[in-house]
Amino acid sequence: MKTIYTLLLTFISFSLKSQVIEAQKCKNENNIAISQQEIYSTNSEFQEKYRGSQIIIPTVIHVLWYTYDENVADEKIFEQLDELNNCFNATNNDIQNVPNEFKKRIGNADLTFCIVPNGIIRKQTFVNEIGIKDSNVFFSNNGGDDVWNTDSFCNIYITNTGKYIAGYGIYPWAKTKQVNGIVVHPKYIGINTSAHFNLGRILVHEMGHFLGLYHTWKDDNDCNTDDGIEDTPIQEHAYYNKPFYPQNSCGTSNMFMNFMDYVDDNSMYFFTQKQIEKMQNTVSTEYPNWLFNKLDNCALYSSNKTPFTLFPNPVSDILEIKIAYSSFKIVDITIHDITGKILFEQKENNVEKIKINVENFTKGIYFLTVGNTSQKFIKY
Ligand code: ARG
Ligand code: ZN
Ligand code: CA
Repeated sequence: MKTIYTLLLTFISFSLKSQVIEAQKCKNENNIAISQQEIYSTNSEFQEKYRGSQIIIPTVIHVLWYTYDENVADEKIFEQLDELNNCFNATNNDIQNVPNEFKKRIGNADLTFCIVPNGIIRKQTFVNEIGIKDSNVFFSNNGGDDVWNTDSFCNIYITNTGKYIAGYGIYPWAKTKQVNGIVVHPKYIGINTSAHFNLGRILVHEMGHFLGLYHTWKDDNDCNTDDGIEDTPIQEHAYYNKPFYPQNSCGTSNMFMNFMDYVDDNSMYFFTQKQIEKMQNTVSTEYPNWLFNKLDNCALYSSNKTPFTLFPNPVSDILEIKIAYSSFKIVDITIHDITGKILFEQKENNVEKIKINVENFTKGIYFLTVGNTSQKFIKY
């Protein structure tokens, strides 16, 4: 009797567990926020667990330069991409500075920007400060650079926006087929030496606008209008520099440390859950094609991951691996089975493509690791 009871219990708890997991998966697929506690968990296991269900945004970078120093290096762009992804996934290294009263509202783990293959376009322009006008920057005919089809790609422009504009993002409701994207001054890309915007958060802020977010104070210096986001308190005006906490207006403690305020880069730390939801909704309604993008179509989504594609998968004999940006690195390539046993090991220098014969492997599941990144494949 006791055994049956234990068995029954085990069975119940087992099926409960798998139900919970199913429910989480499902919620994630529908882009509805997962539970509060989980959202605030910032450990890497959590990040990895949900990585597969994130929205992977296929991104192209247009570097449109007039002076040579505006032609920012790849490394700067990768650094910016890391910061962008960290900020959208609450893995920025200053996230703990969010005041306790707002910690539960931190939005997390839902959007990953990936640069697609050949997705860094470099072009010289003969128009100085071309970024000032969106009627120029998005038009090759006017010295700018045409967008890549915006149904398929998110277009980021790195170009001189003049003395007074750090950058801008085209709102979803203002976009046209041609005028659609985010524009940021090259001096604010990645970790830089500018006085106020030195951590790459201009792009984070402008991406917020691009995905449908307003400023937290809704631009009009009064308490009558808000940003339409439930979990950002109503606020009268913008904040600048590095305000001390707390700050009050409109009878609330203001969330001036939100990415959608105007404080310095080192004083803004997070998006809220409802802001993240709003941005996800923008993607599903305005850019549904982006939802089909996968991490393995990515050339790059993080400077400390090695992106690669493997095919065919499932495979019977020759496994072909294509590594993005391999020229920068010597990479270790290994294959192990589900028990962790290593079946293949090789160091590669500057390769883009390699072929591995897996004909003699027994049927089953394997993991191929390139550098510090693994993918599963099936041998049949
Ligand atoms: N006017 C632009 C905007 O509101 C640039 C703002 C730049 N400042 C900032 N802290 N993000 O999007
Ligand atoms: Zn703004
Ligand atoms: Ca609000």
